[in-house]
Amino acid sequence: MEFEKRILVTGGAGFIGSHVVRRLVNFYPKYLIVNLDKLTYAGNLENLDDVLGHPNYRFEKTDIQSLEALKSVFERHAITDVIHLAAESHVDRSIDGPLEFVFTNVVGTVNLLEAARSAWSGSFENHVFHHVSTDEVYGSLGSSGFFTEATPYDPRSPYSASKASSDHFVNAYFHTYGLPIKISNCSNNYGSHHFPEKLIPLMINNILKEQALPVYGNGSNIRDWLWVEDHASAIDVIFHRGKVGESYNVGGLNEWTNLDLVHYLCDLMDRKLGRSEGASRELIRFVKDRAGHDQRYAIDASKLTQELGWSPSLRFEEGLEKTVDWYLSHPEWIEHVTSGAYQAYYQKFYQ
Ligand code: NAD
Ligand code: TYD
Repeated sequence: MEFEKRILVTGGAGFIGSHVVRRLVNFYPKYLIVNLDKLTYAGNLENLDDVLGHPNYRFEKTDIQSLEALKSVFERHAITDVIHLAAESHVDRSIDGPLEFVFTNVVGTVNLLEAARSAWSGSFENHVFHHVSTDEVYGSLGSSGFFTEATPYDPRSPYSASKASSDHFVNAYFHTYGLPIKISNCSNNYGSHHFPEKLIPLMINNILKEQALPVYGNGSNIRDWLWVEDHASAIDVIFHRGKVGESYNVGGLNEWTNLDLVHYLCDLMDRKLGRSEGASRELIRFVKDRAGHDQRYAIDASKLTQELGWSPSLRFEEGLEKTVDWYLSHPEWIEHVTSGAYQAYYQKFYQ
């Protein structure tokens, strides 16, 4: 079959990437979707059980730290476009060990830019390199104000510094070589298939198992939460209709303190699990704060809404309920990703 586009999605076995891959494979049967992933602890092909075997889907187990391997994938699949999500993504891990964040998020992104520049060197027309980034590049807000696309970069964790650096390289490839790039900077995502090291899935898993709920500091830090499928729809819109060379903020206009959010989850799950009122709140433990903990993130997504007509489809309360229901009905997924059994499987079959 002659495909209209041959899109390389990096990090497609991860949380957001798997939702992006599923959307593209199902909505665009005339596109070939090549999912490139190293399958780190965060990459799980079970996230894509329902698209395996689709005629427009391929998988490549590849590390973006290897330029040669990337060039080979570009050549073998005649890649026309890139949507780049592969990254080390957890702030606490970046504090523990920053170097892997530099190797994957910075060097890996430059490798991908190089592979695209070389593969498309005849003409950059009809190609797109969409880089998926975070609002954390803008730093931390006080009690008022929002991040806009014009907010100066001020990253404060090794994770956000590595993402900011990757954004700068992507922009440099546009200004220096004319590579047709687009960048999206999104707020915190939540939804199904989210690895239980991040706040929402960690709390859901611990409430379920009646384990302690670790709230960093006093729980007053604020995040703006967006349903992952709304992020995937924003990426779809920006990839297809966003202006080349530009950045778009993506957010839910949905700010919660961590403590309010944990309380909400406790009460929701108590109702669902038939536990007595207030039972799960008893599990909350205030623990040592994260080093350099950003106080508040809040996104102004009006450029995306006004120019491209995107807006979130779900209210947070609905999205949280869907998410909790998904975790409650997929205990085997939680068991697999927390037991490490899937890592052993990949080592056996993909080394
Ligand atoms: P994730 O950690 O769930 O998934 C990352 C994926 O990248 C995994 O499948 C992993 O195996 C793969 N990967 C890691 N290193 C790799 C390498 N060297 N080569 C190839 N593949 C590699 O992350 P996520 O939460 O889905 O985030 C995806 C992207 O979106 C990231 O770039 C992140 O910075 C960005 N982002 C995330 C959020 C969020 O709330 N999770 C918000 C805004 C932006
Ligand atoms: P996280 O999900 O790691 O996302 P990010 O740090 O990228 O925003 O954390 C979200 C917020 O929740 C952040 O303020 C840190 C806090 N947090 C806790 O209080 N306890 C936890 O166990 C975790 C993982 C996070």
